[in-house]
Amino acid sequence: MTVPVPQDQQLNLADQEITQATPATVTPISNPTNSSNSDVVLGATGRPLPKFPEPANLKKHGPAYVISMTNQKGGVGKTTTTINLGAALAEAGRRVLMVDMDPQGSLSIGLGVPQEELSTIRTVYDMLMDPQAFPATAVVRATSIPGLDLLPANIHLSAAELRLAGEVAREYALDRALETIREHYDYVLIDCQPSLGLLTVNALTSSNGVIIPMECEFFALRGVEMLRDTIGKVKERLNNKLTIDGVLATMVDSRTNHTRETIQAVLDMFGDSVFHTTVSRTVKFPETTKAGVSIIEQAPASSGAVAYRNMAWELVERLEKKGAVSH
Ligand SMILES: Nc1ncnc2c1ncn2[C@@H]1O[C@H](COP(=O)(O)OP(=O)(O)OP(=O)(O)O)[C@@H](O)[C@H]1O
Ligand SMILES: [Mg+2]
Repeated sequence: MTVPVPQDQQLNLADQEITQATPATVTPISNPTNSSNSDVVLGATGRPLPKFPEPANLKKHGPAYVISMTNQKGGVGKTTTTINLGAALAEAGRRVLMVDMDPQGSLSIGLGVPQEELSTIRTVYDMLMDPQAFPATAVVRATSIPGLDLLPANIHLSAAELRLAGEVAREYALDRALETIREHYDYVLIDCQPSLGLLTVNALTSSNGVIIPMECEFFALRGVEMLRDTIGKVKERLNNKLTIDGVLATMVDSRTNHTRETIQAVLDMFGDSVFHTTVSRTVKFPETTKAGVSIIEQAPASSGAVAYRNMAWELVERLEKKGAVSH
């Protein structure tokens, strides 16, 4: 869909322990509802922890539900969440396309594209700048994870922001580019850069939903409020189907009062949008990022893999309940 937006309505947001992979046999976080009421297990968010069922096999694939992983704060776990949520969805039989919308290319490197190849391959930049010559189907590449493909990015993407700025319907460039490929996947996950600039607005405009990964520290709260405003503006002016599908607390250390207080403040702000699943701080993530694989592949029984698998199951249940994805 290409809807030109009047100049005065356009957003100007520029201101601002490794183990061998084995089949997973791990059951996500235990089911508190099996217990009597007196010993209901509370999750890290302080709420009773429900059980999320393993997603059923799909009867058919596509068209995809599109989710942007967004937070303008750097280093909060956007890329880690994109990779591991994607890997967990693929493990559950979903076809997943990852889109790297960050010129740093961390998603591409994290999914195993060799650094030395990254500057020479076709990328999201080519797709956005010349979609006739480089449609998504010509840019997409397979990853080591069955069922999971990637539209990679490199540093050239930083020029797209400037070059798109002068174009008509500049906020819809990604939406248009994904049009032909969306039907082949069940989920498209877009990894955004840490900014609320035009690339992120393009991601939000082409999405059905947003997931906000956030590090649980108090100073992060103001930034998240600003992000919520931006999402509201994109919804109002560019994409009225956009919803917040979830807020994910990452790098959690539940032993500290500070983390508990911050999670409570996030719950006050976002209510039930906050995922019951949280991701603890663990050294496994930097290790797997360096190795260019997901934690789901490298250490399928680790607490990090269990958390992301649980989050994927929670997300699928949430989306199925509201009829946003097919069973
Ligand atoms: N739960 C976690 N525990 C420990 N380290 C983590 C966790 N999640 C992510 N990390 C590490 O923190 C760093 C930042 O994570 P990541 O790259 O996913 O954040 P980001 O939000 O995508 O950053 P950017 O804004 O730069 O794109 C990485 O080294 C990653 O391995
Ligand atoms: Mg990132």
